[in-house]
Amino acid sequence: MTIKEALRWAKEQLSEACERPQFEAELLLSHHLKQDRMYLITHECDTVEDIENFQSLIQRRVANEPYEYIVGSASFYDIHLEVEEGVLIPRPETEILIDLVAEIIEKENIKNIVEIGVGSGAISVVLARKFPKLQIVATDICDTPLKVAGKNIDTFTLNKQIELRKSNLIDEISEEIELVVSNPPYIAEDFLLKSNVVDYEPKEALFGGRVGDELLKQIILDVKARDIKYLACEMGYDQKEPITSFVNEVGVESIKFYKDLAGFDRGFVIKFL
Ligand SMILES: C[S@@+](CC[C@H](N)C(=O)[O-])C[C@H]1O[C@@H](n2cnc3c(N)ncnc32)[C@H](O)[C@@H]1O
Repeated sequence: MTIKEALRWAKEQLSEACERPQFEAELLLSHHLKQDRMYLITHECDTVEDIENFQSLIQRRVANEPYEYIVGSASFYDIHLEVEEGVLIPRPETEILIDLVAEIIEKENIKNIVEIGVGSGAISVVLARKFPKLQIVATDICDTPLKVAGKNIDTFTLNKQIELRKSNLIDEISEEIELVVSNPPYIAEDFLLKSNVVDYEPKEALFGGRVGDELLKQIILDVKARDIKYLACEMGYDQKEPITSFVNEVGVESIKFYKDLAGFDRGFVIKFL
């Protein structure tokens, strides 16, 4: 099969599974050939070597497997991160959380932070790259995220700035910390997610409990109990009200909510008393 024929076949296969079948066919063929997309145009009559392998990549995508797991890489902020099944694919909305945290770090000259739930390392890696003097301890309860985050930290040679620690929330953190950032699991157990998410992404990264906000509330309590000044978290679009009532009971100096690019409530920054 030539490149032109392979693309036509792949586009046809992907027409139901993807919104942009031509584009994804090109991306997956470029990945298979280890070439850029321009190569496909300039070499359209070349034979595709190892066509069975390319066809199996396409079948995985037809079965709704996320593109990022198939190619083992996700684009996030200004970098590409290694990802695999067992690790959440970093989402563009989390970039907003990073920018808000970056503002606080800059304004308050913060040197020591903790990230809860490191996943691929997306938040910690971007923050460490932005602030070369920042020290981060990044926790997770699962082994695969700790392994994958470790690889990404190595790739960007950030081992001196980011320490990975297996921990439930901040249970294993005893050092002085000025700020905690987290994109924790916050989805309700019975929420119906699309197949590409629920069939492939790790449950531990998605579901926060029966209601969904249980871990968020525990994080607020733990951070307050440790006299840490700032907490910045991502949350679900429908959690502003319950979180507001909760922090009113707990007592904080201030809470500011932020929205994502689609206009949904997406997170908050708490300053503790
Ligand atoms: C939504 S993912 C976020 C991953 C990454 N920070 C990002 O933004 O792409 C949540 C992460 O929290 C971890 N996690 C879940 N419960 C946890 C707990 N109790 N303590 C620490 N980490 C936890 C999951 O394993 C998962 O890697």
